[in-house]
Amino acid sequence: MQISLNPTGLKGWNGSALILGLLEDNVKNQLEQFEESSLSSLLENLKETGFSAKEGEVASFNLIEKKPQKIIVVGLGKPENLNLEILRKSAANGARTCLGTSGKLGVFFPWELFEPASAAKAVAEACQLCLFTDLRFRNEPEPQKKPEELELIGLQGPAGKCLSQVSPICAGVELARELVGAPPNELTPAAMAETAVQLAKEYNLQSKVLEEEDCKSRGMGAYLAVAQGSDLKPKFIHLTYRSQGQITRRLAMVGKGLTFDSGGYNLKVGAAQIEMMKFDMGGSAAVLGAARAIGELQPSGIEVHFIVAACENMVNGSAVHPGDIVKASNGKTIEINNTDAEGRLTLADALIYASALEPDAIVDLATLTGACVIALGDEIAGLWSESDDLAKSLLEAANAAGEGLWRMPLPNSYKEGLKSKLADIKNTGPRPGGSITAALFLREFVGDSIQWAHIDIAGTVWTDKDRDIDPAGATGFGVRTLVNWACKEN
Ligand code: BES
Ligand code: MN
Ligand code: ZN
Repeated sequence: MQISLNPTGLKGWNGSALILGLLEDNVKNQLEQFEESSLSSLLENLKETGFSAKEGEVASFNLIEKKPQKIIVVGLGKPENLNLEILRKSAANGARTCLGTSGKLGVFFPWELFEPASAAKAVAEACQLCLFTDLRFRNEPEPQKKPEELELIGLQGPAGKCLSQVSPICAGVELARELVGAPPNELTPAAMAETAVQLAKEYNLQSKVLEEEDCKSRGMGAYLAVAQGSDLKPKFIHLTYRSQGQITRRLAMVGKGLTFDSGGYNLKVGAAQIEMMKFDMGGSAAVLGAARAIGELQPSGIEVHFIVAACENMVNGSAVHPGDIVKASNGKTIEINNTDAEGRLTLADALIYASALEPDAIVDLATLTGACVIALGDEIAGLWSESDDLAKSLLEAANAAGEGLWRMPLPNSYKEGLKSKLADIKNTGPRPGGSITAALFLREFVGDSIQWAHIDIAGTVWTDKDRDIDPAGATGFGVRTLVNWACKEN
């Protein structure tokens, strides 16, 4: 979608569809500003329908032989409650109704209530992302028209200063959505590695893929134990972005990359929704999506490592047994008391690998625990970190992106639950506090002097219904937080 500012205003605007945002305060007065325009008679109508511009209210009109052909009026609620998040949701609710309409989409909001550059960016992202459709797996996709152009009406010059970031960022989110949405017979570990190598070529990143043998010689026994029950070979992916000139910040992003999680011999049964476990590579999708965006944005002063230990968790005659003891690449032995707690095993070796690069900070993203979904639901991801600074910068990055993130505790006493009678540690603690013991397990594999944060996206990776800026399906959660975090000043 091509995005631009239109400083002229509504007069004579002749695009295909127009979204008008109104505040709950005095709708009549706001409508007066349109009296001069061709919209006035139509908006007259609105007064009669009892539209009160409450947050989330949407009214749409179709005009046959006029331009715009479609007018969508969205309620923004009370001005004192208005924020960027409401702007995003309202833009998305309006834009979503334009699936099926081609041409130019215009958005007219009370921009003056915001810092214009961030409002413009938020609305443009929302419009682009809510119109995403995935027709890759249909034989004869219905021709799905959507607006090719977006105009933010009533904004000028300085408001456009972040707009060039919108397309790279959205492309990163869309890549993540496509990776997560792809079925597990298509998006195999090898396919994920190919995608990563392709990305690296396109955006000038360094790329390296470790094969099973390479991982063996590095002693990645935890990761390989998960992969050993599958016919598909594991692929350990490492991309690097390095900006030109001096580098002052070195970061690593690690993503859980289970292209399918059957649970292994602790097979997922009953309500566990095994068929959804193609989304168990949502962390790695976010990391590759961020690589895509950062590769195109080319932020200065940073080096970023993108790391994924990709594999499948399956069952066959050589699959890991519940009860097996394996050794991670730092020498720690792990008793696998539950083969369905596989993500943390793959992440253990990935975090050891990331730590060896000695970055200033490591962030991992993972669809790690059902317990996190129970705790925070599907709109908020959990954040664990011992570093207040790192936690703060991630929370700020998420907030600016409009992604829900909530810091959770890491009490040392809960490590008790991971004590093994035989090995250094076991991979699964008791059910209560299950997302916390998972985070504590990961901490054991991070280098001592390195700042580290873990983000559990088990709830946010997917949405069953259209929600805010996310169409039903894969959300691409995490990409925008990671990009904001990497690109922040200093
Ligand atoms: N991939 C799952 C976590 C998950 C569950 C994500 C539901 C999204 C929705 C993970 O590998 C898993 O199976 N975790 C277990 C851990 C348990 C065995 C300690 C879980 O959460 O049940
Ligand atoms: Mn599992
Ligand atoms: Zn899993």
